[in-house]
Parts: sequence; structure tokens; C-alpha cells
Amino acid sequence: MKVIICKDKKEASAKACEIMVDIVKNNPKAILGLATGSTPTDLYADMVEDHKKNGTSYKDIQTYNLDEYFGLDQSHPQSYHYFMCYHLFNHVDINMENVHVPKGKGNVEEEAAKYNEMLDANPVDIQLLGIGSNGHIGFNEPGTPWDSVTHVVDLKQSTIEDNARLFFDGKIDEVPRQAVSMGIANIMKAKKVMLLAFGEGKAAAVKGMVEGPKTVDLPASALQDHPDCVLIIDEAAAKLLTK
Ligand code: PGA
Repeated sequence: MKVIICKDKKEASAKACEIMVDIVKNNPKAILGLATGSTPTDLYADMVEDHKKNGTSYKDIQTYNLDEYFGLDQSHPQSYHYFMCYHLFNHVDINMENVHVPKGKGNVEEEAAKYNEMLDANPVDIQLLGIGSNGHIGFNEPGTPWDSVTHVVDLKQSTIEDNARLFFDGKIDEVPRQAVSMGIANIMKAKKVMLLAFGEGKAAAVKGMVEGPKTVDLPASALQDHPDCVLIIDEAAAKLLTK
């Protein structure tokens, strides 16, 4: 694991944007694994700005998102499909036919199996990740087996509380209790992984991921075995690192 410590979210997002844009420029047909949440918002804003200023094109880029809430329509303002359109897809020249977000409605088991087939046929060049305060990646909560692939998950109470605070105006009853998520095995197959983490609330999870034992109790610790994993974190999230 390579760890890059930046002053703050802004500086870290600019660094992450450089890496992302490099990949897109070097391979106009690159396959991007994307993430939602409060972590990548500045990165997406920087990518949009770069697209407008420098013309970086997403015309032939394919994207696969990590996860989606169970039971929300794509048009629901809290769905991750909506989030991606709002922050990135609506502002670049991506072909929406090349965009993939797990389906949280309909026959989700069948859709999850299809998603796994698509991921196997289209290996992700760079997988962007955030990390939960409990160490989850995607919606792979503590205890998720490392050979897991896209599946339906029950969200942990800590995740429901984090997401109620950040995205549902504190209305905990409105946060779905389940989600569909790529599994750890899907994530580990990406050629490169770039994980971002900001703020003191992530410091313990970051320490566990980097310096702790590899354990299913901290899903992100699986990344210790990834051959090309870069963490771009701010000083607050790096606070507990000792090595
Ligand atoms: P956040 O979530 O970006 O909203 O902090 C990250 C995650 O739960 O993976």
C-alpha cells in the first residue's frame, strides 16, 4: 500500500484527480470503478472542471459503481445513480449506455449475478473507494467474506447512522436498511485501487487498514494484499498512523 498524506480534502482530491485523468487520457476506453458518499465529491468536481478546461473526454469510458441502496428508484434523490449523475455524469461527455450502477429494485439477485458477469468481462482499471468509519468498503460491512461478489447486504447500524447524518437530514427512518454492493473479491480484481479518506472520524479505520492485522472484521484491511493500492488521505485521517 502506498500512502499519500495531504493537508486537506481539497489537496487530496486534486491529487486523486491527476491520477484519474492520467488513466482516462492514456486509455480513452478505460473502465472506471466509481464510488459515492461525501468523500469523492471534490474529486468529481475537479474532474468536471478538468473536462471543461482541458477537454478530457469520457466518450468511450465505461463506469461501474460500487453499490446502490435497496428499494430506491434510480430517480430518487438519495439513490447512488442520482448522486453520480448530479456530481459527475451530467457534466461530462459520458455515454449513459456505458454507465453501470447496481440495480436496487426489481429482481436484485438476478441483477447482482448479471453485474458480476459484466465485471468479469470488463476488468476495472481503477477502483475508487471511500472507507466507512467501521472499515467498510463499498457496502461490505465487517464480517463480509473476502471471496464475496456483488450481493445484497444488511447495513450495520453505524452505517445507517453515518448516512442519516450526512445525506438524509438526520432522518434515520428514511435510510434503507439494505443495499446491493460489489463484493471484496470484485474490488480486489481491479488493476489499481485508489482509496480516499478524510477527517478524524476515519482515523481509526485508516489505522486498522494500514497497520492492523488482515481481518474480515475490518474489510478494508483486505487491500493490504492488493498489488497496486494507493491511499490518499488528509492529515486528520492519518492522525493515528505510526509507521
Ligand atoms: P463517506 O462514506 O464518503 O460518506 O464518508 C464512505 C463510505 O462509507 O465508504
